[in-house]
Amino acid sequence: MSQAQHPSPPGLPTTVAHLNHTVVYARDRRRSAEFLASILGLRVGAPFGPFLPVDLGNGVTLDYYEKRDEPVQAQHYAFLVPEEQFDTMISRLEAAGVTYYADPAHTEPGRVNDLFGGRGAYFDDPDGHNMEIMTRPYVRP
Ligand SMILES: [Fe+2]
Repeated sequence: MSQAQHPSPPGLPTTVAHLNHTVVYARDRRRSAEFLASILGLRVGAPFGPFLPVDLGNGVTLDYYEKRDEPVQAQHYAFLVPEEQFDTMISRLEAAGVTYYADPAHTEPGRVNDLFGGRGAYFDDPDGHNMEIMTRPYVRP
């Protein structure tokens, strides 16, 4: 089916590209992958070369990759999670002694936000990646 047969209206994307995987840098791939998997209730997959995968359940894989010789640049990763699992995830953070925050700048410890009619929280992973769990996606303009 060519574009000529089904032209897209002007201004709309003509291609859909599903994110399939991305690399998450870590000092210790096992430690960091296990950390995220334990909080989100996921499992760490079998090593794939230098990568240690965590499948998120929506077709996206986080491939943990060790960066030992230079500092890990902190990134932001946000996870849309089921409302009914949010409290469990918060409990797991508390049990692990990990502080969560209502805001991305980490100024409101021990609190969750209510953005977009859902709930959300931020926490650091072992390498300082700013992780976010949220029950409603951002409403963007
Ligand atoms: Fe975010």
